[in-house]
Amino acid sequence: MFEHHISNCLRPLTKPSIEGLRQALLKLNATYDELAPYIQSSSEKPYYRKLLFQSKHVELLLMNWSGLDCAPHDHGNSYGWIQVIAGNVSNQLFKVQSNELPELFVEKYYKQGKTFFAPKKSVHRMEGNKGLLTLHLYAPPISGMKVYDLKKCAACVVSDDCGAWWPEDQKQRLKVIQLNEAPE
Ligand SMILES: [Fe+2]
Repeated sequence: MFEHHISNCLRPLTKPSIEGLRQALLKLNATYDELAPYIQSSSEKPYYRKLLFQSKHVELLLMNWSGLDCAPHDHGNSYGWIQVIAGNVSNQLFKVQSNELPELFVEKYYKQGKTFFAPKKSVHRMEGNKGLLTLHLYAPPISGMKVYDLKKCAACVVSDDCGAWWPEDQKQRLKVIQLNEAPE
């Protein structure tokens, strides 16, 4: 039933605008109770990642957080809206120049029920307590996401099934790029 509702809301989207994408997420109006059946243990990763819907134009992902921070990352060539279903989240935004380590420049906080935008090519990191639940609607489906490891001073283009962390599995590491420290 809920899956039909998701499909009815998202299937008609074709190259949605930023506002069109936001409206679709609002129309979904997903509740905690509707999403709870899809939650699973995140097994030592920052979150358990459940793909709820994917078309050529959009994808809907549910993320159930374990209390660990994710790594700074972009979303390839996609933009998206993120809705806080349960808990509170900190969204840290980074400045990044090619082949340099990203630098944190602002941190914003969002409470349960709030929705915020992730622009194309922006780099961010999210953190929240265990039990944080977030719903993410991206256009187009994310491909070529870049994950940063600030300690390794490196970036990694990851496979489409990988979340925002440095992949342990070699197959999920599509390309590793050594970065320079940002100049003082
Ligand atoms: Fe993200």
